[in-house]
Amino acid sequence: MKLVLLLLLVTEASCRSHSSGCEKGCDCRGDLKFTICSRASFTRLPSRVPPITELLDLSDNWISIIPERTFNTTRKLRVLLLQNNNISVVEDGAFCQLEFLQKLDLSWNQITTLSEGFSIGLASLRELQLSHNRLTTLDSRTFRHLDSIQRLNLTNNSIQTIQMRSFSSMSLLRQLHLQDNQLTSLRSGTFSMLHSLKVLNLAGNQISEAETGVFKPLASLTLLNIANNQLTTICFKTFLSIHTYSTHLLLEGNPWNCDCDLQRVFRKLRSIQRLFLDDYYNLTCSSPPDLQGYLLINVDDELCIAETVTVLIITITVIITLLAAMLMGERKRRRRKKKGFHWTQQGDFSDESDY
Ligand SMILES: *[C@@H]1O[C@H](CO)[C@@H](O)[C@H](O)[C@H]1NC(C)=O
Ligand SMILES: *[C@@H]1O[C@H](CO)[C@@H](O)[C@H](O)[C@H]1NC(C)=O
Ligand SMILES: *[C@@H]1O[C@H](CO)[C@@H](O)[C@H](O)[C@H]1NC(C)=O
Ligand SMILES: *[C@@H]1O[C@H](CO)[C@@H](O)[C@H](O)[C@H]1NC(C)=O
Ligand SMILES: *[C@@H]1O[C@H](CO)[C@@H](O)[C@H](O)[C@H]1NC(C)=O
Repeated sequence: MKLVLLLLLVTEASCRSHSSGCEKGCDCRGDLKFTICSRASFTRLPSRVPPITELLDLSDNWISIIPERTFNTTRKLRVLLLQNNNISVVEDGAFCQLEFLQKLDLSWNQITTLSEGFSIGLASLRELQLSHNRLTTLDSRTFRHLDSIQRLNLTNNSIQTIQMRSFSSMSLLRQLHLQDNQLTSLRSGTFSMLHSLKVLNLAGNQISEAETGVFKPLASLTLLNIANNQLTTICFKTFLSIHTYSTHLLLEGNPWNCDCDLQRVFRKLRSIQRLFLDDYYNLTCSSPPDLQGYLLINVDDELCIAETVTVLIITITVIITLLAAMLMGERKRRRRKKKGFHWTQQGDFSDESDY
């Protein structure tokens, strides 16, 4: 009985791997329209993949090039998994025949640049995974044809520059993951077309400045993560301009300069009903030196004391000066009154003496 079962299994397995049109090393599941070629030591794309395949898994291989028009026999693909390969070159038009493709995973590869030709034909793509590659710049044309994209993951690349209009075709984008890159500043206009964006993750960059209008177009934003960057201070307007129903902000792990201005900005931000500073209690000061390492929440009452004292001193000085002036004035008036009285008396006398 067991032997028969085993025999059956073996036959089935061999049928699967040797059935016509299935590359050796792949598991072609015609019934499910899956072709699984994971961990098959491929150094190039397999040439024999059943045309009905809708999910092609080529993860964990050693593929290094995706040539132009390479998927011309598997045009029904909906999911293409190429993560964990050695891909450094994606030729122009590599995916241009995959008009039904919805998910493309290219994470954990060696990609340094993607030109406009990369996205040609990918008009149905909803999810693009590009994390753990070596991209340094996002070009305004790289993602031009991704009209349906909803999730873009660029985590852990070396992105320093995002050209204006890089995301301009992405009005349906809901999640943008840019954490663990090398961004240093955020310029107004970078996210200008992202009206549907809900999650913007910028954690783990080197961001030290953000232009005040940069988050303004993000009308659907629910989570903005700027933790672990190089912000020392922030501008109230930058966050006031986020016009949503509710947005959660993450800001810890930045080298905050804890002064009265910062305290005021945070006090105002916390009073905005639609903003939630989820990790406010975790924000720590890096400067001034005597506050280094302190939690902002523990010192924020004191930050404006110096200024309060100055204001108090000025107020008191002004009051004293005013009082003194009034007193002097009063005195002078009295003295003048007295003198006037004498003059009148004298006048009286003189009047009399005139007679
Ligand atoms: C697919 O492309 C290859 C190489 O570009 C080519 O040799 C082949 O003829 C093409 N097949 C079809 C069906 O277009
Ligand atoms: C990966 O690609 C590089 C060239 O980009 C090549 O030098 C290296 O040998 C490849 N590694 C493997 C395991 O194929
Ligand atoms: C983005 O990529 C990272 C690293 O590969 C992964 O851990 C994370 O789950 C991805 N996030 C999304 C939302 O796809
Ligand atoms: C990014 O990934 C590399 C490995 O690919 C790792 O060494 C590095 O620590 C990661 N960086 C961050 C910030 O996660
Ligand atoms: C604050 O920091 C603690 C300890 O590092 C951590 O467990 C907690 O999740 C953080 N809270 C938030 C809201 O990030």
